[in-house]
Amino acid sequence: MWVFGYGSLIWKVDFPFEEKRVGFVEGFSRRFWQGSTDHRGVPGKPGRVVTLIDDPEGRVWGVAYKLPSGREKEVKEYLDYREKGGYRVMTVTFYPKDDQHEPIQNTLLYIGSHDNPNYLGPAPLELIAEQILRSVGPSGKNTEYLFELANALRELMPEEADDHLFSLEHLVKKLLQEAAE
Ligand code: SIN
Repeated sequence: MWVFGYGSLIWKVDFPFEEKRVGFVEGFSRRFWQGSTDHRGVPGKPGRVVTLIDDPEGRVWGVAYKLPSGREKEVKEYLDYREKGGYRVMTVTFYPKDDQHEPIQNTLLYIGSHDNPNYLGPAPLELIAEQILRSVGPSGKNTEYLFELANALRELMPEEADDHLFSLEHLVKKLLQEAAE
């Protein structure tokens, strides 16, 4: 059993795994359109975290993890709990960056689709940046989520531009700098 991470599952790996591979899924784009009331915000003051939206031209880079043999059910249950804030599980084909490895069919993917109660949807980037700047939840600051994800992706795939993610990182850093002046 493999699971694909494109958000916090890339940089906050608090679950056991047997193998991991960098690669991508097709037909989606990554967006900060999912509200978070259990990790990076609170009820009534949600933070913003990533989900994937349908995009026929899109490609999303991330990391796939093979769950430990014999412990798949236990680890999947933990991930279901961790991702309970509106995400549901679907399966996709994962394409490893390293073409010595075959694509992996039926890879699990946690997605916050537009009909879940925490879904916030699109907004101007400036407003998303402000919301991220002021949101905090039980897992910590929303800015930490954004910066950790941007750093991790830069390290994994320096040649891949994710405009939405990196523009938000830039905007939030600018707002932080302005606030410090
Ligand atoms: C994921 O990382 O794949 C799911 C979204 C998140 O928890 O940030």
